[in-house]
Amino acid sequence: MIDGSTEVFGIIGFPLEHSLSPVMHNSVFKAMKLNCIYIPFLVRKELRQTILGLHAVNVKGVNVTIPHKEEVIKYLDELDETSAMIGSVNTIKFNDKKVGYNTDGIGAVQALKEKNAEIKGKKIMLLGAGGAARSIAFQSILEGCSELLILNRTKKRGDKLALDIFERTNFLGKSLKLNDEVLSRHIKEVDILINSTSLGMYPNINETPVPKEILHEELVVFDIVYNPLKTKLLREAEEVGAKTIDGVGMLVHQGAETLRIWLDIDPPIDLMRETLLSHLKS
Ligand SMILES: NC(=O)c1ccc[n+]([C@@H]2O[C@H](COP(=O)([O-])OP(=O)(O)OC[C@H]3O[C@@H](n4cnc5c(N)ncnc54)[C@H](OP(=O)(O)O)[C@@H]3O)[C@@H](O)[C@H]2O)c1
Repeated sequence: MIDGSTEVFGIIGFPLEHSLSPVMHNSVFKAMKLNCIYIPFLVRKELRQTILGLHAVNVKGVNVTIPHKEEVIKYLDELDETSAMIGSVNTIKFNDKKVGYNTDGIGAVQALKEKNAEIKGKKIMLLGAGGAARSIAFQSILEGCSELLILNRTKKRGDKLALDIFERTNFLGKSLKLNDEVLSRHIKEVDILINSTSLGMYPNINETPVPKEILHEELVVFDIVYNPLKTKLLREAEEVGAKTIDGVGMLVHQGAETLRIWLDIDPPIDLMRETLLSHLKS
């Protein structure tokens, strides 16, 4: 029941119809009997007015998604260390100030950890250099990966990520163009392959960033695409005997971290996963 003391949370972005954050967070509020609600706020433009308005009407926090994760920084009072390093925000907490955080990278690392795939000391091949890839790249370095190879279709974007990483952490990653030749030259040397491109995502479910012939059983293959849950990349990786991790764990753990920031609670991870799985097709 919504009453005068209900705390309001939400997500801002465009489009939002497919976002699973409202069902995930509202299921937690219901199960934990918290007097909170999570609402989708469709925001095309007018980002500054949105942030000021949400703060003014006492909204307690929002997630931020495409296309506002970087631009929103201009309208916040403070950033935590991780979001400042990454240069993008997916969570805002409103109190007397407007404070930005980024929980995507933490979510990805937790998704690997819960499948006993540690990042510390490991060689990582990261496909993509977009928003999600940036978060994963910085978090992997904070977790102590030994090498980071960034492969992106638009090499300039990968170069920029590698440069930002070097300037902000002193870690020397390598940026290469994403193509089959580069993939087959380097894939033998890496421990963990992470797809953070949108290749393989619905409706292009027959696409994969990596040809099956070069996948091998020593790899951990983590695909952050969650629609479908079992992408072509994961199916083929499984067929060659590699360990596979799908995108749902990252979604759960980034949401859990957001709830810790907003409400200082211990989130019900299993419930969050079940809620998401019931809304996702494999
Ligand atoms: N599991 C989770 O919790 C989670 C969280 C966030 C995102 N995601 C998923 O991760 C994917 C990327 O999201 P994002 O926010 O990082 O998007 P983004 O910022 O738009 O980046 C898209 C990335 O995909 C690459 N790409 C797109 N189409 C390609 C193609 N045909 N061939 C090769 N590369 C291509 C882009 O390369 P260019 O630079 O060359 O354009 C870029 O590196 C999406 O599928 C999203 O749903 C999952």
